[in-house]
This record gives sequence, C-alpha cells and structure tokens, in this order.
Amino acid sequence: MQNDSGKTISTWMTTAQVPDQPVLSANTHADVCIVGAGIAGMSTAYMLSREGKSVVVLDDGPIGGGQTSRTTAHLSNVLSYGYSELEDIHGQEHTRLIAASHATAIDTIEAIAARENIDCDLVRLDGYLFPPDLQSLDEMNQELEAAHRAGLTEVELVNQAPLSGFDTGKCLRFPNQGQFDPLKYLAGLAEAIQRRGGKIYTGTHVEKIKGGLTACVETSNGQVVTADAVVVATNSPISNLATMHFKQAAYITFVIAGKVPRGSIPNALYWDTLDPYHYVRLQSLDEQYDLLIVGGEDHKTGQADDAGARYARLQVWTQERFPMVEEILFRWSGQVINADDGIAYIGKNPFDEENVYIVTGDSGLGMTHGAIAGILLTDMILGRKNTWAEVYDPSRTRIGATGDFISENLNVATQYLDWVTPGKVDSVEKISPGTGAVVRRGLTKIAAYRDENGILHEHSAVCTHLNCIVAWNSSEDTWDCPCHGSRFDSQGKVINGPAIHGLAPVEEKIK
Ligand SMILES: Cc1cc2nc3c(=O)[nH]c(=O)nc-3n(C[C@H](O)[C@H](O)[C@H](O)COP(=O)(O)OP(=O)(O)OC[C@H]3O[C@@H](n4cnc5c(N)ncnc54)[C@H](O)[C@@H]3O)c2cc1C
Ligand code: FES
Repeated sequence: MQNDSGKTISTWMTTAQVPDQPVLSANTHADVCIVGAGIAGMSTAYMLSREGKSVVVLDDGPIGGGQTSRTTAHLSNVLSYGYSELEDIHGQEHTRLIAASHATAIDTIEAIAARENIDCDLVRLDGYLFPPDLQSLDEMNQELEAAHRAGLTEVELVNQAPLSGFDTGKCLRFPNQGQFDPLKYLAGLAEAIQRRGGKIYTGTHVEKIKGGLTACVETSNGQVVTADAVVVATNSPISNLATMHFKQAAYITFVIAGKVPRGSIPNALYWDTLDPYHYVRLQSLDEQYDLLIVGGEDHKTGQADDAGARYARLQVWTQERFPMVEEILFRWSGQVINADDGIAYIGKNPFDEENVYIVTGDSGLGMTHGAIAGILLTDMILGRKNTWAEVYDPSRTRIGATGDFISENLNVATQYLDWVTPGKVDSVEKISPGTGAVVRRGLTKIAAYRDENGILHEHSAVCTHLNCIVAWNSSEDTWDCPCHGSRFDSQGKVINGPAIHGLAPVEEKIK
C-alpha cells in the first residue's frame, strides 16, 4: 500500500476532465454573476442560462477544482442527520420538503444529463443504512417511521444489506439513490452554459462583493463584473464575515479506494450510523475490477494532524467488512461544511443587500444541495415562489434546539487560546524539508514551511478571516484554520474561504 506519512496519494478523479477556461480580460456586465464553479455555482449558472439570463461565472481555480473534485458523489436523500432528528429540529412539514427536495435534486441531475447528452456515469441504485452493531434495531425502526412520515414511503426495513461475508444486521433500504462522476457532469454543464452565451472565467480570484442597485464583483487583478444579482457559491461564503460561520463548522473527511473483483460487491450505496459515519460506494475501474470507495474518520479542520492513523483505521474497517479488497490504490481527504441543523443554507445573504445570494453548509451532501441551489436560487432571482425557500433560508431559526450550535461555537472560542500557547516547534531549524510548523516569535506566531530545496517560507500564522492561529496539515501540505475552515497552501495562498486573502508573508530566508 502507500507510505505511512498520511500524505494524500491521489483521487480517483482528475480535474483535467474539465477544460481550462479563459481569464477575465475586461470589465463586463451580466444579469447574474456567480462566484465559484463547483457543483453549486455551475448548477445555478446552468439553470439561469436556460431561463435566458446572461451569466458570468468566476473561479479562482479550474472548474470543479474545489471540494467537487474530492467528493465521492453519492446522490442521496439519506442525510447525515437522520429523519427523526431532522423532524425534531425542523418540524414534520419542513422535513417532508427536505426529503422531497433531495429526491428532486437527483431527478434534476438525471434529467439535465439526459437533455444535454452528458455521459457522466450516472446510475440509479439502492442505498443501505445500517447500525454500527447488530443491537440497534430500535434506532432503525424509529428512522423507518420518520422516513415514512417524511414521504419516503418506499423505504423498507430489510434483514441485512446484500453483502456476502459481512452481516450488517437489520438495515434500511432507500430505493432510487444515485451516483455519478461530478467532473464529467460539470464539463457537460460548462459546455451547455457557454452554448447559451454564458461566460466562465477560471484563474480569477474574487476579492470584493457588493450588492445594491448594480451589484459589483471585484477581482484581485482589479477587473469588475457588474450584475443585477450575485450568487456566492464558494462553498464557505466569502461575502459573509461572521453570521454564517457561527452556524456551521468545517470538518476534514478521509477516503480510501481499493480494488475488488468485479461483481464481488453489489452496486449500491452503503452508510453506517456512527458519528462520524462511514460512506461506501463502487466505481468501475477496468473490465475485471471495481474500486470500492470508503470514506469517514472526519475531524474538525485544523484540530488534528494524524491522517496516517485515520487512513489506517479506514483500511481496517474496510478489510473487516469487505475482505475481497485486494489493494488500496487511492486515498485523499477534503473538507465538508456541516450546518448546525443538518441542511444547507441557500438563499439571500443575511444582513446584506437583497440581490446577494449564498449557498453553503453542504453537510456532506453538496451534490444534491448544489442541484437544489440551482433550482431555488433561479426561482428567487426570477421572482418566482418556491416552497423550499423558507426551509433553506440562511436566516432561519430552528424549531428544536440543536446542541451542535452551542458546542461548535464553544469549540471555536477555545481555539483563540492558541495565541498564548508555545509553537509546535521551538525553532525553525527543527523543520525538515517538505514540512511546516507553527513557531512562536515574540507576541505572535509564524507559519513556517521549508520546501524540498530547504528554502524556508514564513508567513504570519494569523488567519486573515477572524484571526485564529492556523495549523499545519501534513497530509495535504496546507495551513488549516481551526475556527471556520479557511485553508491556505504551503506558500500562504488562500485555497478555501471564508478567508479572502492569503497569509501575510514574512521575509523569505535560506537556512
Ligand atoms: C471526501 C469528500 C466526500 C464527499 N462525498 C459526498 C457525497 O458522496 N455526496 C455529496 O452529495 N457530497 C459529498 N461531499 C460534499 C461535496 O463534495 C461538496 O459539498 C461539494 O462539492 C461542494 O460544492 P460547492 O460547489 O459548494 O463547492 P466547491 O466545489 O468547493 O466550489 C467552490 C468554488 O469556489 C471557488 N472559490 C472559493 N473562493 C473563491 C474566491 N475568493 N474567488 C474565486 N473563486 C473562489 C473555489 O475555487 C471552488 O472552485 C464530499 C466531500 C468530500 C470532501
Ligand atoms: S477561518 Fe475564521 S478565523 Fe480562520
């Protein structure tokens, strides 16, 4: 298998599937400017362009180069919170709308792929939700009843998932789930958007978003896009300094993919109900083999650096249940943004002008939430009523209390103690090539990275969002903020919001 360093080896998808786009060359105007070319931004751009709106999409990196390239792409109406918990938090009527909206999202992706002739390996299949031990029958029964009340009347309790050699015990079968290749899908959407006159500019970093009569989006190169409305689809919104970031929390999640003889595992989606839960699917590898893709072992972003141990635990969990896995070929990690009440925030940006919209809080279901954003935001921008608007409203308050809100915000508060603790190492001399560490220098802290040639790159360790101290992620060679999930590459460049600016550089040294 791989070395034990815990470094990411690669993902089963490549961003090369989506062609590079031109860089924005001049100031421009569109009906709607969309920031972010992941599944959420591209779905919204596609839906708006079908309605005859002119759209401009801006993205820092390539199309789908954010978390959409890291996903395992289950298309599901099985959410990370169970239906009985969703009912407690959102009430029965809204929970029915949540279930229906995710089913509609899968139908919509399927319909778009068919209409636009996008070959994205989309298949419909069953999903099995099983308890971590054979004892939790009550939990399954409760969830079955709640799923039925939510309108998912075809969900059934079965004796076990159809796996040989692993008894899941009684579990729930959710019919009509799906899986696909999201990058092939985005490549097809890009083509369809451009055919309708939409413009997509990659390599374009957005620094400022201003709503109002004529909304205005400014890039780091000084170009300006004016528009009647702006959609901020940057996964974690860059248009919102605080409000949304107190209602959600960033987690790193880990994935391994191993080869299994074709046909040895029935093609279905599988999840357990642990917290964090495991998520499993298959992907065709070649004529003889499939890939079994298994994810889980999540931790709060910036609050652990033990990827090697997490990958090892994922491998043990996998081999105990799927002994037919012959070899682990891939492993990777990525970030999910968990909303404190289990579903995404999609709609008007709180405390902002009326024409600034956001989509965030994917809660591990960004594929369906992205498609929901496409439908809902298009209706909102066109002034049409949509029954999902209240459910996904970023300003919503919950009917039932969720302990996650309080514990996540207490957790963030304690991260500020990092200002007074010592550095991870007491001297930059102790940092070996290819690694980084936070060091204390007087009253402040430095994020020091030594590249493979021995050159030391020093940046302020103070996150440019709300001043927490970043931590080194040795698996992905990034600086990760433990407060709200901003991430920076080893050279301090921002790669994930909510931060908009990179870490402030300190003079470079050769030591
Ligand atoms: C390992 C893993 C497994 C997952 N499995 C599933 C799954 O099975 N099913 C599921 O539904 N979801 C899953 N998810 C979640 C899902 O992948 C994400 O929620 C989804 O891809 C998010 O899409 P997005 O469009 O919101 O964000 P992204 O894909 O991250 O796109 C945001 C874009 O915004 C751009 N951007 C950010 N800041 C700026 C700026 N300042 N200027 C310009 N551009 C900017 C970025 O470059 C990026 O391209 C998984 C996630 C991970 C990490
Ligand atoms: S992400 Fe908020 S302080 Fe860093």
